[in-house]
Amino acid sequence: MGVAVVTGAGRGLGLGITQKLAKLGHTLVAVDIDEESALDAAASVGGRGFCCDIADRDAVRALAEQVGPVDLLVNNAGVWRFGPLLDLDREAIEDVVHVNLLGTLWCVQAFVPGMAASGSGGVVVNLSSGAARMHSPGTGIYPVTKNAIEALTIQLAVELGPLGVRVNAVAPGSIATEATARILTPADRAERERTIPAGRMGRPEDIADAVAYLASDAAQYVTGQVLYVDGGLTSGRVNRS
Ligand SMILES: NC(=O)c1ccc[n+]([C@@H]2O[C@H](COP(=O)([O-])OP(=O)(O)OC[C@H]3O[C@@H](n4cnc5c(N)ncnc54)[C@H](O)[C@@H]3O)[C@@H](O)[C@H]2O)c1
Repeated sequence: MGVAVVTGAGRGLGLGITQKLAKLGHTLVAVDIDEESALDAAASVGGRGFCCDIADRDAVRALAEQVGPVDLLVNNAGVWRFGPLLDLDREAIEDVVHVNLLGTLWCVQAFVPGMAASGSGGVVVNLSSGAARMHSPGTGIYPVTKNAIEALTIQLAVELGPLGVRVNAVAPGSIATEATARILTPADRAERERTIPAGRMGRPEDIADAVAYLASDAAQYVTGQVLYVDGGLTSGRVNRS
């Protein structure tokens, strides 16, 4: 199964992905900007935990040297700062671009050469978002970075294919995590569940299953794709009474 690095592994979707991959037999490297949660996540799966800000390119390079060769990179760490684009300050915009887009690229630059050198290739899975397809006012630069992640996924698939590295993305819809619980009132959540075709918000396990599929040999002929795991949310709304 090999060694899997998961960024933003400390909680939410990253923790769910970490636990799923460990169950499947991967050896986990849990990375998070929050040291305690990285170490706890790693301890929960018998893996190694590292504190690293993926927006810091030098720190990511140093991390990759410390970790050594890996077979799977899951670029899950992501942040959002909501507000109307006309009012968003520079720091809020740069933070989201530096983590979501550039942080993903720094991790690819740091970890993929080792995968390619191993001779057996490797897999990268990036995290997009349903927000890349369904734009809502006030969501800041976040949806733009997730569209960029989808374009980056395709570009990398083309460039890394000859090195034996597959690159895909998973785009979660509305998933129940601590982060979404902070921004959704119970009434918001009920309204979402009323209109999502699948009738519920997603669970971290739904996303972990999709990442596990893309990481597996069952997806060995799949590269440059974005898999929407959203219960139908971005396809259309239903109107349950
Ligand atoms: N939860 C959802 O409904 C949802 C929907 C669509 C997309 N996503 C995407 O899924 C991913 C995970 O979302 P989540 O809901 O689990 O978020 P979350 O905020 O619960 O967890 C994100 C984790 O990333 C870590 N992190 C943040 N900045 C970092 C940095 N610079 N370096 C390293 N680690 C960092 C945080 O400490 C945290 O542990 C994100 O990319 C997000 O955009 C989530």
